This record gives sequence, C-alpha cells and structure tokens, in this order.
Amino acid sequence: MSRLDAASLLLPSPPPIKPHRRGGRLLPSALAVLGGAVVLVVFVLLPSPPNPPRNYGSLFLSLGSNDTAASHLRALTLHPHVAGTKANSLTAAYVLHALSSLSFPAHITPYSVLLSYPVHRSLSLSTAPGGRGSTKSFSLVQETYPNDPYAPAAAEVIPTFFAYSASGSMSAEAVYANYGREEDFAYLASRGVDVAGKVALARYGRIHCEDIVYNARVAGAAAAVVYTDPLQYGGAPGEGSFPNTRWLPPTGVQVGSLFRGVGDPTTPMWASSEGCERVSVEDAMATDDMPRIPALPVSARDATEIHRVLGGAVAPVEWQGRGDGPVYHLGPGPAVLNLTYAGNDTMATIENVFAVIEGEEEPDRYVILGNHRDAWTFGAADPNSGTAAMIELAHRFSMLQKQGWRPRRTIILCSWDAEEYGLTGSTEWVEENREMLSSRAVAYLNVDVSVVGPVFQPCTTPQLDELLLETIKLVQDPDNSSQTVYDSWVKSNVSPKKIGRLGDGGSDYSAFVQHVGIPSTNMIFGEGPGYPVYHSLYDDFVWMEKFGDPGFRRHVAAASIWGIMALRLADEEIIPFDYMSYTVELEKYTEVVERDVRGTPISCSPLYNSIKALKRAATKVNNERKEILRELSRKQLSKGSSKVRGLNDRLMQAERAFTNREGIFKQEWFKHLIYGPLEQNDWDTASYPGIANAIAAARSTNTSASWKLVEHEIHRVARAVMQASAVLGGSLT
Ligand SMILES: *[C@@H]1O[C@H](CO)[C@@H](O)[C@H](O)[C@H]1NC(C)=O
Ligand SMILES: *[C@@H]1O[C@H](CO)[C@@H](O)[C@H](O)[C@H]1NC(C)=O
Ligand SMILES: *[C@@H]1O[C@H](CO)[C@@H](O)[C@H](O)[C@H]1NC(C)=O
Ligand SMILES: *[C@@H]1O[C@H](CO)[C@@H](O)[C@H](O)[C@H]1NC(C)=O
Ligand SMILES: *[C@@H]1O[C@H](CO)[C@@H](O)[C@H](O)[C@H]1NC(C)=O
Repeated sequence: MSRLDAASLLLPSPPPIKPHRRGGRLLPSALAVLGGAVVLVVFVLLPSPPNPPRNYGSLFLSLGSNDTAASHLRALTLHPHVAGTKANSLTAAYVLHALSSLSFPAHITPYSVLLSYPVHRSLSLSTAPGGRGSTKSFSLVQETYPNDPYAPAAAEVIPTFFAYSASGSMSAEAVYANYGREEDFAYLASRGVDVAGKVALARYGRIHCEDIVYNARVAGAAAAVVYTDPLQYGGAPGEGSFPNTRWLPPTGVQVGSLFRGVGDPTTPMWASSEGCERVSVEDAMATDDMPRIPALPVSARDATEIHRVLGGAVAPVEWQGRGDGPVYHLGPGPAVLNLTYAGNDTMATIENVFAVIEGEEEPDRYVILGNHRDAWTFGAADPNSGTAAMIELAHRFSMLQKQGWRPRRTIILCSWDAEEYGLTGSTEWVEENREMLSSRAVAYLNVDVSVVGPVFQPCTTPQLDELLLETIKLVQDPDNSSQTVYDSWVKSNVSPKKIGRLGDGGSDYSAFVQHVGIPSTNMIFGEGPGYPVYHSLYDDFVWMEKFGDPGFRRHVAAASIWGIMALRLADEEIIPFDYMSYTVELEKYTEVVERDVRGTPISCSPLYNSIKALKRAATKVNNERKEILRELSRKQLSKGSSKVRGLNDRLMQAERAFTNREGIFKQEWFKHLIYGPLEQNDWDTASYPGIANAIAAARSTNTSASWKLVEHEIHRVARAVMQASAVLGGSLT
C-alpha cells in the first residue's frame, strides 16, 4: 500500500460514510470560531452531528487561516525574547493561554540550565603595528531605520554577542581566515601565516559560528571575530538592504551560541531535573565543547574597516568579497584588534510548554509536534513563524474536535525553550523522558523556522518519505493556486526532488532522532540555505510581512503539511511508515563508503547483506499491512486487535534499532549509527557518522590499526541494520 489515491489518503480506516446530506449544513460555525479570520476555503458541506464527518483531513485543509497565523506571529514578536528572560516567560504564558483556550489541556515544564548573557563588550581597531596607529572603536550597534515601528523595542534587544564566549581582553594582530573551516586554517599555515596568538577574522557562510571559533582556537588564535560578508548576506552590489529589500543591512550582526554540545552544559548526559547531579559551571565552561577564547560577531560594515587595514598577502579569489569593497588580505597585521568581552554564564529557568490531545484508542502512543519559542531577537522567522503555524494548526484541531474528531493516538504539541543555546529545552525533556519516549513515541514532527521564502525544503527519516510526498500532493502551493506544493517542489532548482536527512544538530529533532531513534521530520518554506536577516535585529514582523511571507499563505501551507502528517500518523490504524525508502538510502550511503575505502582490503559486504535483510523485512511488513487492512475492512479483525498493535509496534520500534547504547565513537550522546554529526562539522547532514569519522582518521594516519577501526565501524552499522530488520520482520531466530 505504498501509494493511495489522494482522496482516500485522509480517511481514518473504515470506508468513508457517504456524506449525509439530509440535515447537512454549511460550516459558517467554523468561521465564528476563528473570530472573523479569513478562512481560505470557506464552505464545506458537512453532515450534522450525531453523524460526524469522517474525512477530517480535507476538513482540516479547508480550515486554514492566514489571519490567525499572522495575528499570533505579531503578538509573539512584539518584543525580543531570549531564553531565560522575563520577556520569554511572557511568550510561554502566551502559548499556554492560546492552546488552553482552545480547550487542550496544557502545562509548562521548567528546567534550570546554564545560559549565557553579555555584560560588557568592546572592539577597537588600530591601524599600525603594535596598536600604535590611530584607533577606532566600533559601536557594535545594529541601527534601526527611519520610521521603524520596532525601533523602541530594539533597545530591548540583547547586545550582539556569542553565548558562552570566554571573558577576557585580547589585543593582537588580525589574520583573515575566510570561512573558518579546518581547510582555511590549513591554507593559512601553508602560506606561512601564523595564527597563534592572533585575532582570527572569519566570515559566516559555510559552517556554524561554534565551529568557526573552535577551529580558530585549535589553530592557536587568541580570540575570534566573525562577520556577515555582503557576498552572502548583502545581495548584489547596489541592491540595497532591509527595509527596502530582503538583504541584511550593513550594521546587521548575526549572533549565536558557541557551545558545540547539546542541552544544558551542567548536565551533559542526563536531564536537568530538580535536585539532579550537576557539573559545576566552571567545569562546564572548561570542556572542549566550549569556545574557551573570547569571540564576538560583528557587522559587514565593521569587518570592511578591518579588511581595509589588513596587510600581508592578497587572499585567494575564493576568499574575496563581493567586489565593491576592499581587496581582502591575509594579514597578520598591521591591523591590531583589541577585543574585550565580559559575559555572565549563569543558571536560568527555561520553560517548555505542552498541550496534549489524548488519543481515544491508543492514548499511550504519541505523535509529537514541536517548535522552539525562544529567539535571539524578535524571532519573526526564527522561530515564531513556526510557533504561529503550530497555533494556527491547533485552532484547526480544535475545530475538528467540535466536529467529533478524536485522534486514535495521543498528539502532543511542544513549544521548546532555549533552542538557540544548544537545543536545550527539547534535549532536557527528551533526556528526562527517554525510556517513555523510546517505548511510546511514534514520530516527532519538528518545525523551527516555518517560512522565509517560497521553496519547500523537507527533511525526514526515510520511512516517512512516502507520507511526506503523499501529503504535499494534497496541499496547494501557497504561491500558485494552480499547482500543489509537490508540483512546485519538483520544479524547484533549489533542492529539486531531494528530501534532506536529519543527521545534523540544526534544530530540536536532534535528541529525538539522534539520541532515542524516533522517526522524525523537519521542514521549512525557504530559499536555499539560510536567509539574510537570520539571528539579527531585523528578523521582525515587518521583514516577514514584506519579504518572508507576504499574505501569510506559506504559514498556512506549512501548518497544513504539518497537520495532515500528524493526523495520518495519529489516526490511521496502521502507522504509515514505509521502510523500503530506508533501504534505498542505506544503499546510497554504502556506495559512498565503498568509494572511500577503495584500494584498502576493507569490504562493505556486511553492510550490503544487512540492507538485503532490511529489504526482505520491509517487504514482509508491507504485505502484512495489506493483509491486515483487508481483514479489517471485512471485519475479520477487530479494531483493537493485538495483531494491529503488534504490527504498529514493529513499525515504530524498527527505527530505535538503528541506535546503539555506546553511541558514536567519542560522541557517546549520539546513539544513532545512521544519522549523526561528523567530528569535522559542516552544514551538510551526515550519514554513517561513525564510519565517516573512522575513515577520516584512517586517511590521516594510514595505520593498519586505524583501518581496522573502519572495519569495526562498518560491522557496527551492519549489526544495527540487522537488528532493525529483525524488529521489522518480527520473528526470533
Ligand atoms: C583594550 O581595550 C580595553 C577596553 O577598552 C582596554 O582596557 C585595554 O587597555 C585595551 N588594551 C590595549 C592593549 O590597548
Ligand atoms: C549574572 O546573572 C545573575 C542571575 O541572572 C545575576 O544575579 C548577576 O547579577 C549577573 N552578574 C553580572 C555580572 O551581571
Ligand atoms: C503555476 O502553476 C501552473 C501549473 O503547474 C504553471 O503552468 C504556471 O506556470 C505556474 N505559474 C507561475 C507563475 O509559476
Ligand atoms: C489573508 O489572505 C487574504 C486573502 O488573500 C488577504 O486579503 C489578507 O490580507 C491576508 N492576511 C494577511 C494578514 O496577510
Ligand atoms: C597507506 O599504507 C599502505 C600500506 O602501508 C600503503 O600501501 C599506501 O600507499 C599508504 N597510502 C597512503 C595514501 O599513504
């Protein structure tokens, strides 16, 4: 049953009851519930209770409201709301109220965790060796524009900083390090440019700030400055910036967290529950996952001034900027940067908000939807476009309930806190509830930023591919009503027909996938990697209204996709997972490994054999599904049958088998052997991280022991895939 026709997709399993037209009524009542919001498809013929409509999927799709999404987004983004602050506690109260006033039981779960705030920053530039030339102090302020409605609230925005940066003062020559990748520092070394004791100047655009600063420290830098180059963030020369265009203004600064771990740094492998064991703040700040050198993010304008006075060799072409600024030189000096930073790394309270829609038949099976709420600034895109979509979706669920809908399984809506600091809110919760989630969670559907552009960009664990594709064939393209999201996605040249995977630490799916092994998705309407005002002052409602989603139809489409997937996962008798696509993916990853070990005696046949076994199990389970559905439709099987439950448990648990108690070598929190971060981080999601790390190590040392380790990692993954096939197949040897 891999493909169903679109109309039958959305039906809870028994055959559809004929629309019961006698006594039917139009649905203006739904309009009233929305309080005057524009409902996109307005009239739906519904039977009257007590014969409730069964096609809740199409009802759900018909109830989308762009005004509901827009009004929640506006309310959530009036003030900046960094984790651990009073302002963010108010957004927790807002979400709690919004969900509980839709009559969903809702609650807050707080944690005390180590966060980080700026106390003092300064950066000055001297134009002569030894800092003896004229000195310029940078203001480090992101400027508002004339008539900016958010100018008064801009004063509440946290000063530009890097969370968990070391405190200290460092005055030294600057060196330009391009994107701050390992290879960039290696290039500097090859050119004889010594980074030791210097201030590394690097730009965003290829890797995350925590990895840039980490690489700088490893290369010996005493401090780091990271900036947004107009090449990536400023559009074409002369194009202008926000509020006239979508691009980042010259004084815009991208802030972020420098912590390379996940969760609360004082509870590295366990939950920050009350009275728990904790590492001291000093010890937590001294680990290798912390930057341990002072660092600051700066604007393109400030970086341009630094570039203007940097000397030394001219940087290579790929290291240059947009062409309308100074030519970039490598340094060191004569520019001297004096960077001073004092931070407050302090315990603070964060709040996760939950609403629960209890399942009628299987209350102990969870379909979990999550989005974070904390923002570095106003958070109109990141993350509250997702929060607004989640609340809009909840409005629709509440209207379905009024029409008689009761999900078969429990649906949980989660509003995470402190994602920006290190996926902290979701990580602590998953750690605290690990065994419950492991035995009960069907799927986790994450949305962080829901909207910054027109291009649908999905990521899933592969057994959800088919469900995702079926879903986006039902949802109208928000930018073109004569096609579906699927049609526009297929045509897009940003990520043509490619579903991303979830191996990176990009958002709150990390703990669900990589720590517990829960089938998951993440999605965004974007415009390629990133967007210009990311983590800056300008990520506000005006930017969203003008550039991210004029008309707020993409928010509605995001909520539609999210909600339809949730409805099917929660309502269908048999969980709509198809593991055949997992086997296709695993084959692709194995071909990469095979290429990487060519010329060594290492064989990939253990992997290929395990994938064959998984294929057999996936085929078997798909046939069983067909058979059970046949029996159910002929009433040869009762709805609550243990046969149904047994099949569903196998589908749910097979993903867990890809995890391993010991986790990835040297990254033991990451238990998933297929998807997880690489040691040498980059923006791309990784597959077979243990094997990839081992190959990288073996390549650099080329000892027989190191290649032996590659072989071991291949066997570990093959064993996990074998375990998954056993779970899916459902029989003991
Ligand atoms: C660097 O700046 C700090 C703060 O303004 C100042 O106290 C310190 O003296 C400066 N260091 C040097 C070497 O100029
Ligand atoms: C650091 O934060 C704590 C708790 O929020 C506060 O009590 C303390 O005064 C702050 N310290 C500094 C130096 O700002
Ligand atoms: C809208 O979709 C239709 C059907 O796919 C396509 O023919 C048309 O070119 C699209 N319009 C735009 C403006 O992209
Ligand atoms: C919602 O859509 C309607 C109809 O297209 C439009 O008139 C309205 O301005 C939109 N609302 C917002 C907040 O953009
Ligand atoms: C690695 O070691 C093997 C065996 O010692 C040798 O044949 C091979 O050339 C080496 N490869 C590299 C890239 O150094």
